[in-house]
Amino acid sequence: MPFDFSALRRFPDVEAPNLQAWDATDELLVRWALESGIPGEQIAVIGDEYGAITLALADAGLTGIRVHQDLVTGRRALANNTVALGLAYRITDAGEPVRRVEPGHAAHAEAHPGSDTAFTAHELDPTLLQGARLVLLQLPKALAELEEIADAVARWAMPDVTLIAGGRVKHMTLAQNEVLARSFGSVQPQRAERKSRLIRASEPLAVPEEPPFPASRTHDGLTLCAFGGAFAGARLDIGTRVLLDAVRRLSLPVLEPRVVDLGCGTGALAAAFALTHPHAIVTATDRSASAVRSARATMRANGLEGRVDVTLDDAGSELPEGGFDLILLNPPFHLGASVHEGAGRRLIQAAARLTRPGGEVWTVFNSHLDHRRALTRDVGVTEQSVRTPKFTVTRSIRRG
Ligand SMILES: C[S@@+](CC[C@H](N)C(=O)[O-])C[C@H]1O[C@@H](n2cnc3c(N)ncnc32)[C@H](O)[C@@H]1O
Repeated sequence: MPFDFSALRRFPDVEAPNLQAWDATDELLVRWALESGIPGEQIAVIGDEYGAITLALADAGLTGIRVHQDLVTGRRALANNTVALGLAYRITDAGEPVRRVEPGHAAHAEAHPGSDTAFTAHELDPTLLQGARLVLLQLPKALAELEEIADAVARWAMPDVTLIAGGRVKHMTLAQNEVLARSFGSVQPQRAERKSRLIRASEPLAVPEEPPFPASRTHDGLTLCAFGGAFAGARLDIGTRVLLDAVRRLSLPVLEPRVVDLGCGTGALAAAFALTHPHAIVTATDRSASAVRSARATMRANGLEGRVDVTLDDAGSELPEGGFDLILLNPPFHLGASVHEGAGRRLIQAAARLTRPGGEVWTVFNSHLDHRRALTRDVGVTEQSVRTPKFTVTRSIRRG
């Protein structure tokens, strides 16, 4: 029986009638892998949004597939979809013991390495790629992220590795081929099918001694570090700068304010706030592993290691309800490739949950977005603090 892609869910990511958990690119990548005859132990999957590629391969009987997903929401969706299918898998995050997750026990995994699992989950590191002869990739949106992945494959996979990168034709650009050609001697776009296209890259080239990321740049004394997938790279985004200027001199009526940079990216807001408010207890959190690695590097670069706690989490779900005096928020307004306000709304609701009564939420957003209404509804009284031609900064007071 063919794999039922339509049974997959995006949960806990935003779900809506126009958003689905797989696309034709996933199906083309799966078909390529199955036709290649390469065993699961020699296959790595990168950018498998909600697990469609991995789970279709597992359903076809492959085992030992290695998977990297940047977003914790995708990792949680893959775990949930796996449990729904009744498969076993392992998580081998850097620094964590290997955990074997039995079907139906995703939340109570026990330390127990084994080789009979459908897949193992990895960070973008050598454990993901060593020994890999086939890498399946859902093309990322950012070229920097593609550059980082292409370098990693050329650096760590087998010399005879083939990278199959796929995407929706409408989102693909020639620049992606150029980026791949920096790491591979052969880059061959395939014929488009069902509005998706695969690119076959092989013959990995020699890599520079040091990986190309993190990149870093200093802005008025604040150093930002960025891995490939982090929002705005090592640049200081103009919206971020407007919010930064508004809160740099902010004084709060508590001696040691507890502050969250919600959706922290490279950690610009958290780092700048911690530098100007030495008594603040600051947490920076993001759902992207690339962002979290970047923010940790930013803290180190600014002498803030140990002062700012950086966590990988979905909308601060592991932080205490009502536990914070101030939330700094520059919400996303793109959800993957489709424009959807749901992602921003989700962080506004999270900000409301995290702030103590009387606490403050400072938000920056593109002026054409209707976030002020959502902030008033979910958080409390919201006033405009700054307005530039493009951006609005608001201050919301959490109702009791
Ligand atoms: C517009 S960027 C802002 C980054 C950073 N705060 C800045 O101002 O430069 C939005 C960030 O929110 C993160 N994000 C989106 N949805 C999230 C979620 N559900 N939980 C945590 N972070 C999320 C994205 O990964 C991205 O880094």
